[in-house]
Amino acid sequence: MASVSARLRDLVARGRNVVALTGAGISAESGVPTFRGKDGFWEKESIEDLASPRGFRRDPRRVWSWYDARRRQIAACSPNAGHRALAAYQAQHPGTTLVTQNVDALHRRAGSRPLEIHGCLFRVRCPREGVTREDLRVPLPEIPPVCGCGATLRPDVVWFGELLPEKEMGEAMEAARRAELFLVIGTSSLVYPAASLPEIARGRGAYLAEINVEETPLSALADEVLTGPAAEVLPGLLGIGDP
Ligand code: OAD
Repeated sequence: MASVSARLRDLVARGRNVVALTGAGISAESGVPTFRGKDGFWEKESIEDLASPRGFRRDPRRVWSWYDARRRQIAACSPNAGHRALAAYQAQHPGTTLVTQNVDALHRRAGSRPLEIHGCLFRVRCPREGVTREDLRVPLPEIPPVCGCGATLRPDVVWFGELLPEKEMGEAMEAARRAELFLVIGTSSLVYPAASLPEIARGRGAYLAEINVEETPLSALADEVLTGPAAEVLPGLLGIGDP
């Protein structure tokens, strides 16, 4: 496993104001494809067609077929040792804030209560009533799914050009400002405003550690970079063995 400095070990052991931001890379070992890079979703599919309000207005059926396929794929996956290590660490250190860009709900299935700043694939939203609700049906019985009020439901995920959920992002910002240790795990750090969180934390004096299989635009700003798969690095780093 990647070698860990004494400073980082100490901050992990203290467990004061620790923030972890995760991206698609943490779910890679669970079998969930990432977005960018080889075999990433956005290499094969159009963001404009599948992840924008315009694409949805144009063809809700196409968008929902893709989301239904992703829901089916993820429902067949399980949380991995990285998700479990973060959940166990959070249980030991309740002041820890877990922020995720992932919409796959794998952190929650591992027992964490993350701030889901990009929404969740297993929630639907009624644009007419303005309400969201959990929907675990896999596959969906009708595409596109329709609300009791007659409106076409949409996935409760953030699309390009849309604002992030105010409450979750507000809490994430606040945690970033207070952070003593900020872990950036499995994200390309290309999508803002999520990618601003580690920058804010670093600017306020947090120790910034990145865990990724490759370099990212954030690597140069990090105090420490641990190169390796999150599911392998996290149990050792957080001192949580995987039974
Ligand atoms: P990306 O696909 O952009 O980046 C995934 C990152 O994970 C890359 O930096 C990989 O090197 C790294 N990675 C791959 N396998 C890994 C592993 N086993 N362990 C650790 N790291 C690994 O995914 P995100 O950064 O999450 O937005 O993308 C950000 C947002 O862009 C997503 O939330 C999504 C997407 O469009 C929305 O859905 C709104």
